[in-house]
Amino acid sequence: MTRYADFYKRSLAEPDAFWAEQAELVDWHTPPKQICDYTNPPFAKWFVGGSMNLCHNAVDRHLKDRADQAALIAVSTETDTEKVYSFRDLHAEVQRMAATMVDLGVKKGDRVLIYMPMIAEAAFAMLACARIGAIHSVVFGGFASGSLASRIEDASPALIVSADAGSRSGKPIAYKPLLDEAIRLSKHKPPAILMVDRVLCPMELVAGRDHLWRDLRQKHLDADVPCEWVDSTHPSYTLYTSGTTGKPKGVQRDTGGYAVALAASMKHIFCANAGETYFSTSDIGWVVGHSYIVYGPLIAGMATIMYEGLPTRPDGGIWWSLVEKYKVTAMFSAPTAVRVLKKQDPALLKKYDLSSLRALYLAGEPLDEPTATWISESLGKPIIDNYWQTETGWPILTIANGVDKAPSKFGSPGVPMYGYDVKLIDENTGEELKGADQKGVVVIEGPLPPGCMQTVWRDDDRFVNTYWKSIPGKLVYSTFDWGIRDKDGYFFILGRTDDVINVAGHRLGTREIEESISAHPNISEVAVVGVADQLKGQVAMAFAIVKDAALLPDAAARLKLEGEIMKLVDKDLGAVARPSRVQFVTLLPKTRSGKLLRRAIQAVCERRDPGDLTTMEDPAALQQIKDLTA
Ligand code: PRX
Repeated sequence: MTRYADFYKRSLAEPDAFWAEQAELVDWHTPPKQICDYTNPPFAKWFVGGSMNLCHNAVDRHLKDRADQAALIAVSTETDTEKVYSFRDLHAEVQRMAATMVDLGVKKGDRVLIYMPMIAEAAFAMLACARIGAIHSVVFGGFASGSLASRIEDASPALIVSADAGSRSGKPIAYKPLLDEAIRLSKHKPPAILMVDRVLCPMELVAGRDHLWRDLRQKHLDADVPCEWVDSTHPSYTLYTSGTTGKPKGVQRDTGGYAVALAASMKHIFCANAGETYFSTSDIGWVVGHSYIVYGPLIAGMATIMYEGLPTRPDGGIWWSLVEKYKVTAMFSAPTAVRVLKKQDPALLKKYDLSSLRALYLAGEPLDEPTATWISESLGKPIIDNYWQTETGWPILTIANGVDKAPSKFGSPGVPMYGYDVKLIDENTGEELKGADQKGVVVIEGPLPPGCMQTVWRDDDRFVNTYWKSIPGKLVYSTFDWGIRDKDGYFFILGRTDDVINVAGHRLGTREIEESISAHPNISEVAVVGVADQLKGQVAMAFAIVKDAALLPDAAARLKLEGEIMKLVDKDLGAVARPSRVQFVTLLPKTRSGKLLRRAIQAVCERRDPGDLTTMEDPAALQQIKDLTA
């Protein structure tokens, strides 16, 4: 048996001893009295009785040995700025932000919504929340007012931290009007607003409600805000993610379990050493940004690069130039980004000294073989695919090279990580599939390991009903992904079982997009599906029934309506959710009981066999889609 196989086996056979050892990787104010309390499944409580602080673990504890070492490297090719914050600088900035938050009335347990571009202040705000025991909820800067409003309403924040603008391709994108509109749309009483002014877009400030970070930072230059020692189970953050219903779920994470899980993953999976540099190209609005831009690398005592900009501007060598300049040892990105880089001049990869880099980690969507082969040959470094979810916070399947060097297999993210009791289940019978090469739903036997979601914010029932009741007769966590396992125990992920799609590594709910489109006065019904795309993995395609069918034969009118719908989605959810096409039909394929047959639509769009259609009410509906996509 390999060292990793032993390591994995022990994590499940002796979880208390295993996780007690991992817990030593972080600082505790009060050590835990009990490792795991699973008396009320599926709710797992990790490191019960322990108290700690995430910000202390990410920042303060490193002051002793590495105060002057780089901690946060904020690079923006949008504004042509680059600033390195040492752990000492970061400590000071986070305390200024924490003092500002306290000044604005934020207390332990209050929510702080962070709607920010990829700038250092976003990380200060996250860490400041952790410092004072407030619960942050970062909303991806690419989302627009509708998405933001629903998140404000669900999180009911005491404070919103935002900025005048983001930027794309050198063009500012104003955030403030989107934020003002979201506050107007939401039923939540308007909270205090803290604005970072990047001087990119003029802002109108609401007197008494809106405050400028520049002013309050000045007031708190010498702030000394001690860390609030919170229970291990105290929520550190919520992060909204899409599922089957239109309403996004607030994935709630604890404090102690998360700190331990990240520290352990930095050691066993990312082979991290304090003093080195980590570069994750994700965004703080996504889970990868939480775990592997902000908390993971800092907890490990590494410098972390926060990058605002495109991978191709000023040219396709920009990321590699950062690897050279900051001697990056571990890099984390998504297959989509690699596919974008693949279209650039291959000489750009050879232009920089990449000798510091030990491995490139990729996640968020399936890693196709041509992409994997190209990047692996071009870089000449190990490419490590890892599969996980917003809900789990850290990899479920990958290769733990920090424990034991193991080969990767193209097309497979790898094997179950320690602590995850991963199984494949037959969707219809609920039986476990133990043999090789059988397709089933990927599930995890409880308790979920440390770092995974505690519950859905303010909705325990939704947590249980959504994730733990989808397999008949079994209390297991469903990932809603199809998978198979080969004879060597390597898993292959075959796509979602639900209505979630993955566009360029961004997780989107087709129902959210449908709800947004349905708001158009000339649309009565719509179906949105994810369709395979060479560059983005998937793109959203919409098929809508128009109220005024007389307009259908008119190509110019159709084009105009399509444009209106795309604008509507942009304004409501953001350009990330915009369908690549909106096509018009008079009928949508449904079962006799009225359920939309999205999988059949998707199959037709991908020119696959739509499978068994005996339950379909009217085959003419699918024929219309076939004709449109022929
Ligand atoms: O369908 C799986 C896909 O992305 C989903 C989770 O997305 P999100 O919550 O945004 O978390 C991303 C964290 C990396 C999964 O249910 N997915 C994620 N990683 C992979 C993947 N599919 C195939 N291979 C992967 N490595």
